[in-house]
Parts: sequence; structure tokens; C-alpha cells
Amino acid sequence: MSRIFAISDLHVDYGQNWAVVNDWSDTDYNNDVLILAGDVTDSLELLKSTLILLRQKFAQVCFVPGNHDVWVRKHRDGDTNSIAKFGQILNLCQRIGIKTKPTCVSCIDNSKVWLVPIYSWYTQPEEDEIDSLYFPSSIESRRMSREIWSDNYNCKWPDGMLTTISEHFADLNDDFITDDYDAPVITFSHFLPRQELIASSHDDDVAVSTEREFLGLPKLDYAKRQGALAGFNFSIYAGSKYIDKQLRQCKSVLHVFGHQHRNRDRVIDNVRYVSHCLGYHKERQDGLLWGLRQWQNGPKMIWPVPTKDEAKKRKTTDAQLGNALPRCSQKFMRTPSDGKNANEYQSVGRSIM
Ligand SMILES: [Fe+2]
Repeated sequence: MSRIFAISDLHVDYGQNWAVVNDWSDTDYNNDVLILAGDVTDSLELLKSTLILLRQKFAQVCFVPGNHDVWVRKHRDGDTNSIAKFGQILNLCQRIGIKTKPTCVSCIDNSKVWLVPIYSWYTQPEEDEIDSLYFPSSIESRRMSREIWSDNYNCKWPDGMLTTISEHFADLNDDFITDDYDAPVITFSHFLPRQELIASSHDDDVAVSTEREFLGLPKLDYAKRQGALAGFNFSIYAGSKYIDKQLRQCKSVLHVFGHQHRNRDRVIDNVRYVSHCLGYHKERQDGLLWGLRQWQNGPKMIWPVPTKDEAKKRKTTDAQLGNALPRCSQKFMRTPSDGKNANEYQSVGRSIM
């Protein structure tokens, strides 16, 4: 009988991040399941040791690779490409007992839930304007955005691909995408499924301000930029609408994603979207990753959903918990889309997500 926890973007190539993950309790999660939504490391060797470590802490670990995981380095990976490396990662997971296919979990409240991976990539506007999550910004520099985006140097794709990269990964999900699951479905991808999730909400801005206040830092000059580099437009590389289409085909009630290093917990059109990234040390120091401190820089519990009575009994408030548990119940409240237009906001992003 398990609880479901989620986190992404561990980036354990950085010693500080490895230390954080290594410090997670060896006993607290022994019956629990971890959803790990990509970007652990580009080293297969380090990925293996990290996944084995997590497998020792959790009863099960469910994983989808992110963009960093499929980077290839000639001196280490030879002439392989990122699609071949993706296959190597899935093989590794199979060998060491990490779940990369739909998994049914029995939860501590005696309910069942399906955890369904959605493999994905981002669609750039030049590839498919309709599927891309791109929105223009008056301050963006396309040249600068292209030059500082590390995937443009570290991902290698086979010659003569007949589809976009997004389509290639979306097609891999064909066997998983069904509405036949016999229990609630939680889906998870590395990349963002919807344009609205790129921009921060008022609650996100308040949470970042609160975190910065706790750290003794001044308010951000431009809260909506969330520490983004001026000129860089993250939405070019954010995600794909295929992801949302597929998660809704599965009748997902909760979708976990990562990639942006800006945390989210929001209900849009009856689906709860959660991003809980560990991110980089500097981003944590700058208070940009709200909610992490409340979970001791560890994963966030996302399931089971507490009943209204249980939520009421909690002494801590939603904000104190980083919107962790009480928001679960909002899934059943049929809240409409938050109605915000992503174009209202400045572009958000950095060079190295
Ligand atoms: Fe990423």
C-alpha cells in the first residue's frame, strides 16, 4: 500500500544535487512509489547508480527520460544518436527494475491508481506552429535563444527522420494511450503539455516572493520573468500539445511534468498539473523553486487525494505546504481553466533546462 510522490530535474551531475538526493530518507518511502519526470544526468553510468539508489529508497520508481538524459558526447557515447540513447536508457531501466511502462499501484487508502508514462519532446515553431507551445515575446532574441539552448549542441538526431522529434516520441506511446484503465490515471512526461503552464500564476508569484522573503532576498524586479534571462524565449523549447492530447485520451486526472525548473500546481479543465523540480542549486538559493523547502528538497506527495475532512484537519495551510496536498481535492471541484493567456506574460526560461 503506497503513497505516490513526484519530482523531476535532479541533475545529479552537480555534486550539490547528488548530495541532496543521497540525503533523502532511506526509510520514509519504503512502501511508496516515486514518479521521476526526467533530466537526471546525461551519463548512463551515473543514471544507473542514481536509479539504483532511488530503487533502494522507494518500493517502485517510474521514470521518463528528459532532454539532458539523451545528450550524447562523442568522447563517451561514440557515434550514437539521441534516439538510440533513449533506447539504451529504457533497456537499462528494464535491467534494474525501473518502470517505464504503465504501472498499477495499490494505495494506502485502499484505492488503485495507474501511473502512465508519456514519452515526449518539444516542438519548435519552425517544425509545427500548431503543435508548438511557442508564444512570441517583444523582448526575445531568436538568435540568442538558439545559441544558448544546450540541446542544439548536445542532442544528435538520425538523418532522414520522417516525422518531427515530438511525433516520433508521441508515437511510442501508442500502446499506452487508451481510456480502458480500470482506475484513476496519473500521467507523467518530462516536457510541458500546455502553453498556459509556462507562465507563472499569481499564486506562483506569491509563492516565489514568500520563498525569497524567507531566504532574506528582495522581491524580483519583474516577478513574471521569474529570473529568466532577458531575450531568451523558453517557450520555443517548452513542450508539445501532443502531450496534453494523449493524457486526455487516457482520461488522466493528474499530470506530472518537469523541464522548466519553475514549479506549478494548477487545475486546468479538470486535470491537475504538477511540476516539482529539484532544479539547480543557484535556483534554490534564489528562491525560484517554490514548494521544495516544504518537502525538505525531496519529492512531493501527490496521491492519494485527501478527503475534505482530512484536508480540514490539517493544521498547516495550503501555502505552507507549497500547495501540496489540499490542491489534490480540487481535481474533483471541476474548476475551469485559469483563463490566462500566455501571451500576457514575458517569456520565461534559461539556457540550460
Ligand atoms: Fe529538461
